Amino acid sequence: MRKPTSKSAKPRKPARVANTPRLGDLIVERIERLAAITDEPGKLTRLYLGPAHKTATDLVGRWMQDAGMTVRLDATGSVVGRYAGATNDAPVLILGSHIDTVRDAGAYDGNLGVLTAIAVVEQFHAARRRFPFAVEVVAFGDEEGVRFANTLGGSRALAGRFEPRLLDETDRDGITRRAALTAFGCDVAKIADEARDPANVVGYLEVHIEQGPVLEAERRAVGVVTGIAGASRGRITLTGNGGHAGTVPMGLRTDALTCAAEIILAIERITRADAAALVATVGVVEIADAAVNAVPRSVSFTVDLRSPSDDTRAVALAALQGEARRIAAARGVSCDIVFTYDAPAATSDQHLVAALSRAAAKCGHDVRLMASGAGHDAMSFRDVIPFAMLFVRCRGGISHHPAEFATADDIDAAAQVLRACVEDLAGK
Ligand code: HGY
Ligand code: MN
Ligand code: MN
Repeated sequence: MRKPTSKSAKPRKPARVANTPRLGDLIVERIERLAAITDEPGKLTRLYLGPAHKTATDLVGRWMQDAGMTVRLDATGSVVGRYAGATNDAPVLILGSHIDTVRDAGAYDGNLGVLTAIAVVEQFHAARRRFPFAVEVVAFGDEEGVRFANTLGGSRALAGRFEPRLLDETDRDGITRRAALTAFGCDVAKIADEARDPANVVGYLEVHIEQGPVLEAERRAVGVVTGIAGASRGRITLTGNGGHAGTVPMGLRTDALTCAAEIILAIERITRADAAALVATVGVVEIADAAVNAVPRSVSFTVDLRSPSDDTRAVALAALQGEARRIAAARGVSCDIVFTYDAPAATSDQHLVAALSRAAAKCGHDVRLMASGAGHDAMSFRDVIPFAMLFVRCRGGISHHPAEFATADDIDAAAQVLRACVEDLAGK
């Protein structure tokens, strides 16, 4: 297939309907093929706008074409497949998820949702079905936020929420988002044009592994998401005097690492105090110029704070920042705090939740409504475009880990529910 460019690549004729594989098996086969596309041989790491992301956009674009969609790469590097509606002026139902990953990731996070959406459209295409809306499948590339501090750039663009200031954000090699997008073949001047007219959008539906243990514990294949927790991400940098490990007495040290350790435990204490509504994670800790025989002079660590309640998150954020400054001051260590990312909690659209619930019931599942502690592209659409999500059981609730896994049966169940939901919405 021609590489998806801003011009559309044309759809292919439908495959023969006879002996087409079960959707779950087709999706699993493609998940495995996509998982082989990585920036780090031996593990799955596919960062936004990197070489593996580029290769993945081509493969996903080919699968979209096979599913009867016109395909293009949008101005933020998302692959957009469009399956025409019954009329040219039809509104659009957007399906999607993301194909970027964390480092040493599992194969299902994000990728499952994109491939499930493509497979469902492919089945409609094979049956030459048309709906009173077009169906777009979007493979976002900036959901994880591993390369750049801010994330959801692709889905925020569709929601008309992309902030141009983010184009000057740099990755850890000093490459700006603008330069990375341009090198990827995107025209950053066209990002604002990616905003969808909400009046013309039926809604956004995302299939995603649960990334938690609830569905497995309750022996359910799927669940319907009622809302997504809000998240803050930031970085705390501590700077002391450093010094020789053998000569600086303990009482005269301004050790940046022991200061960081006390602050990290304080963050844990603050969060545990309201464990029902808060989670906080320090996922990256960097010691500048680390040496076995040098007192750490500069330590920087990330903070990921989440809650279903934005008010609770704001209170906790203020508390942990205050505690960080108090501890640093008491230790004579300077403390710099920068929180760059804020994603408000997002509530699913009740009509789409009802449609997914009807579809799940029609497919024989008793409906499990549940919240999402993980963030998703869907949250970019809050208050602008109605959204809902379908969760799929994953083994042990493991995610952001190579052991991440979902069965072909559960994936097939999710695909059948998504298909039934599209038909339900068409009937409405
Ligand atoms: O961090 C998250 O919640 C998502 O997996 N990016
Ligand atoms: Mn995800
Ligand atoms: Mn993820």
